[in-house]
Amino acid sequence: MIKPFDEPIYMTRPVLPTLEAFNARLAEVWSARWLTNAGEQHERLGRAICDYLDVPEVSLFNNGTIALLAAVRALGMRGEVITTPFTFPATPHAISWSGATPVFCDIDPVTMTLDPARVEALITPKVTGILAVHVYGIPCDVVALQSIADRHGLRLVYDAAHAFGTRINGVGIGNFGDASMFSFHATKLFHSAEGGALTCGSAAVRETFDHLKNFGILNQEEVGVVGINGKMNELQAALGLAVLDCVPDELRCREAIIGRYRERLAGMAGLTLMPELPGVQSSCQYFVVRIDREAFGCSRDVVFDRLKAYNVLARKYFYPLCTDYACYRELPSSAPGLLPVATEIVGQVLCLPLYGTLPFTAVDAIGDMIGEIQEQAC
Ligand SMILES: Cc1ncc(COP(=O)(O)O)c(C=O)c1O
Repeated sequence: MIKPFDEPIYMTRPVLPTLEAFNARLAEVWSARWLTNAGEQHERLGRAICDYLDVPEVSLFNNGTIALLAAVRALGMRGEVITTPFTFPATPHAISWSGATPVFCDIDPVTMTLDPARVEALITPKVTGILAVHVYGIPCDVVALQSIADRHGLRLVYDAAHAFGTRINGVGIGNFGDASMFSFHATKLFHSAEGGALTCGSAAVRETFDHLKNFGILNQEEVGVVGINGKMNELQAALGLAVLDCVPDELRCREAIIGRYRERLAGMAGLTLMPELPGVQSSCQYFVVRIDREAFGCSRDVVFDRLKAYNVLARKYFYPLCTDYACYRELPSSAPGLLPVATEIVGQVLCLPLYGTLPFTAVDAIGDMIGEIQEQAC
């Protein structure tokens, strides 16, 4: 039996700049004596994110969930909004908090993102928009979804929480649809401890996001819309700037680790590795595998438990489906019979540890452990 790790191997570890680098940024905040409301760090981070993501407009937020909520409201997505059940609860919550109703739609068996053919079948006069998720950073079928949105006059927003840096044929993922939301939570490759952003193609739309995140304030005497406090503060932005400097190295390390996992796990019966799509540059946010119980020899849940015994804390991410949560279970679109692909995949996915400082020796050992779990199961 392979010896368990002495210390837990977590699914992720936050990217941390050196304390000196962060302190240098903090010193600037202290000398400016400006802590929030579009300060210098905030402005600099906004420009840097525009450059990095290759998008024309960005609005920074205090977290991704409020950003998503602002997008749904600003773009007038009312009535019903089609979305995926295979996501983090923040996705349907943003729809519900805006007073609209999520309509859950099944996913594609390969990309695990919204299946455009099924989206079309769910469109009724009540539907005003589509909220699609680039799950694990794997891009949705942006061409098919845009064509559906155009034909039916629907808004199209992307939850790109996992897709910081994903590109399709060289085009930054934040350029698709009416807007895209990025999460800068500590678990994300790029983060500001908590934080988020909306990207979009037009300055006018970005201004509506900017107003909404600042209580709807237009000027010192006028409030135009029912806004919220969604502003990113200077400490978050300073951390974000320091972390952004670390992203190229982190990305290189993660690419190498993913390559190593792929080599080590290739050809293992019953194990499907995260898809690599032609022309797509990955965000390297997650490395997910799917375990087919019959072909592998035991279920995802058994692999998860056995890895835990080896001190490897993989995650059943995303499990369960959002349609299984008490707050969504009763919706007509939540019936498992309507979501056969998502229902199957949710029982198969397992996110393996992935962070830049994960040594190759650990990746190899995790590969061996999965092999041992399979041997013992068969
Ligand atoms: C797919 C998805 N959407 C939205 C969010 C919410 O982002 P945040 O934690 O920045 O509010 C997350 C969180 O990690 C997520 O995974």
